[in-house]
Amino acid sequence: MILVTGATGNVGREIVKELHRAGHQIRVVSRNPAKASFPPDVEVMAGDLTDPAIMKAALDGIQKVFLIRVPGSETFPQIAKQSGVEHIVFLSSSAIEARTENAIGRMHLQTEELIRQSNIQWTFLRPGAFMSNALQWAPAIRSEGVVRAPFGDVRTAPIHPRDIAAVAVKALVSSGHEGKIYTLTGPEVLTPVEQVQTIGEVLGKQITFEEIPETVAREHMKRFAPVDIVDAIFQLMREATNHPATVLPTVEEVTGQAARGFKQWVIDNADAFR
Ligand SMILES: NC(=O)c1ccc[n+]([C@@H]2O[C@H](COP(=O)([O-])OP(=O)(O)OC[C@H]3O[C@@H](n4cnc5c(N)ncnc54)[C@H](OP(=O)(O)O)[C@@H]3O)[C@@H](O)[C@H]2O)c1
Repeated sequence: MILVTGATGNVGREIVKELHRAGHQIRVVSRNPAKASFPPDVEVMAGDLTDPAIMKAALDGIQKVFLIRVPGSETFPQIAKQSGVEHIVFLSSSAIEARTENAIGRMHLQTEELIRQSNIQWTFLRPGAFMSNALQWAPAIRSEGVVRAPFGDVRTAPIHPRDIAAVAVKALVSSGHEGKIYTLTGPEVLTPVEQVQTIGEVLGKQITFEEIPETVAREHMKRFAPVDIVDAIFQLMREATNHPATVLPTVEEVTGQAARGFKQWVIDNADAFR
């Protein structure tokens, strides 16, 4: 049986769909499973992964795990080893590979280390920015037809969460992915201004991009995220300004399918912007 953590999230939800379609036995664990709808034969466990009793129950009888980073669940790999888990596919972050050390990279590296130390087989997925981060613009697009953000011309290569899920599923159900680190990007380099243009084209609506100062954006973001994470995000954006992202072929190499473009992601998620 395969345990999918983060199953109500952008990547986990897609992994459950793919594994279910292929007939695998799945268990999910979530603090609030009602956030997503799962097929009837998926075993759903309500619980918080920071609770060791929940980790133990969630891992009982499990051979493989798709793991997301949950602060406060540092004993997870150790408990997984004791439960007989054979392979962990961990959703890490390409922030580890940034030119300058940062909190996001550090936190993901720490989880990678804990997994290595457990002596369970592992595969690490290190994606860059998710296309789904554009959902943060949805309320303002719906109500005012405007996006207010800093770094309008920074060039990143955002990835469709379905492509991360496709790589994760390959690593979970086929062999040869043990001990591999997959750094993942989408298929094109895009600025936020270009992403907003694409959203407008798909919706058939005029959307304006208004560049705001970094200081204003930082104050806003600090209401939702810890200050070291906010600092890391801005540091990564500044770095990308000087060193634009490059497109990597990893998704296609692992899955045999070309990575999906941003336009496809917008089509898949158009209702969120209407
Ligand atoms: N967004 C990016 O650009 C990006 C880039 C690189 C790497 N990543 C990595 O990808 C991860 C997922 O990012 P996302 O933005 O797409 O978020 P998400 O997966 O959509 O949401 C987070 C998921 O974590 C689960 N979760 C959080 N705390 C939990 C807990 N204590 N117990 C059980 N489940 C818990 C949530 O489940 P419930 O709420 O249902 O419990 C939810 O399914 C990030 O945390 C990061 O490690 C993200």
